[in-house]
Amino acid sequence: MALPCGNGRGWLRAVRMTFYLFILIPMSSTGNRNSNTIFGEKQKLEVQLQLKRLNKPALKSIKSPDGDIIDCVDVNKQPAFDHPLLKNHTIQMRPSSYPKRFTSNSKPTFTQPWHLNGRCPEGTIPIRRTKEEDLLRAGSAANFGRKKYHTIPNAQSNNDQPLHEHAILSENGDKFYGMTADMNLWNPYTQEANEFSLSQFWLLNGAYDKDLDTIEAGAMVFESLYGDKNTRLFLYWTDDAYQSTGCYNLLCPGFVQVDKQIAMGARVTPYPKYGGDQFALPFHVWKDVKGRGDWWMKIAGRDFGYWPSSIFSILSDSASRVDWGGEVINSNKDGQHTTTQMGSGHFAEEGPGKASFFKNLNVIDGSQILRGPRNTTTFMTKRKCYNIIDYGGFFYFGGPGRNPNCP
Ligand SMILES: *[C@@H]1O[C@H](CO)[C@@H](O)[C@H](O)[C@H]1NC(C)=O
Ligand SMILES: *[C@@H]1O[C@H](CO)[C@@H](O)[C@H](O)[C@H]1NC(C)=O
Repeated sequence: MALPCGNGRGWLRAVRMTFYLFILIPMSSTGNRNSNTIFGEKQKLEVQLQLKRLNKPALKSIKSPDGDIIDCVDVNKQPAFDHPLLKNHTIQMRPSSYPKRFTSNSKPTFTQPWHLNGRCPEGTIPIRRTKEEDLLRAGSAANFGRKKYHTIPNAQSNNDQPLHEHAILSENGDKFYGMTADMNLWNPYTQEANEFSLSQFWLLNGAYDKDLDTIEAGAMVFESLYGDKNTRLFLYWTDDAYQSTGCYNLLCPGFVQVDKQIAMGARVTPYPKYGGDQFALPFHVWKDVKGRGDWWMKIAGRDFGYWPSSIFSILSDSASRVDWGGEVINSNKDGQHTTTQMGSGHFAEEGPGKASFFKNLNVIDGSQILRGPRNTTTFMTKRKCYNIIDYGGFFYFGGPGRNPNCP
């Protein structure tokens, strides 16, 4: 279904502007009425400029039954090419090579709701449109789509910041050029809008406190970014330990998408049922060493796109660690642990059909060979809240958050 543009939206805009001024007034209590208005105008301009940067002209727009709008954007005019280092970048529509034995036995049975109302034409990619309310919810247009708090699994807790909690498996002790994982994706409950719950992989290199480079993807629930509690596909990257580079999805220039079927930030369905049949979504990442060295990602067997090697410093060579698992934010409201769930919301020991799992775990090692993990460690921030059990090549993980043992 194509979307009619610009009709009957004036009133909505007026409502939003009112809302907007309303939230700004308490912020600038030191100024007079006049400067409040000027401040408001400036912010509004900033939001409009940011929307223009984020939402590239669409050749076709599709309204999803879940309320998202998917814009089909010319593949050559996607956000990636606004990156200063990608000014002369020649897009590659497919990788120059695939690693050997790069298969998955999981049937990709997932879908995205927007497919019900249309498909993107050849030569375009689907991008979830950012709406004005998304930016207003984020509070700052400049930080929209960026991780607010660092993802530092081993860091000391800092009392005035919401805590990141993990249950992950790490493979160490080699150079890594890719990984595989089939992820069993649920719809975990999240308590607060600024708390997320995610399942993902990380390819990392560098130091957490200064120059960390990461490539990340998976699925997450994150109400303050997306406006609801649905499970959505995401990718992420940073070139400087989450300081000033990188973002979710295509919300900043960097990642180059070539696939016309899968949209980042869009829902991934169906959600599995406790005790019911389970499926897993296959992710494959590999460095295209026979080509330019870009980091390609396959999702559900489709060549989805790539992180250009040139946007990274350390990851332009190889990763030094591969992680898989779950992460939540615990805002510790009223001094109690959050009830935000990880995975299915059930602990790893509940096993098949009940706890969330990753399987088909592999890395591409320094000899460019795809192999199973063999020097792994599990890491749990609070094992009474969320845990992980490694079975070699697959694991179960997750938990309910607050419970009698996790107060
Ligand atoms: C792009 O190409 C021009 C002309 O060859 C060159 O001067 C410039 O440095 C290049 N930019 C990048 C980011 O590679
Ligand atoms: C195994 O991993 C640890 C870190 O968890 C690393 O220090 C060690 O060098 C690795 N050993 C081998 C044999 O790769």
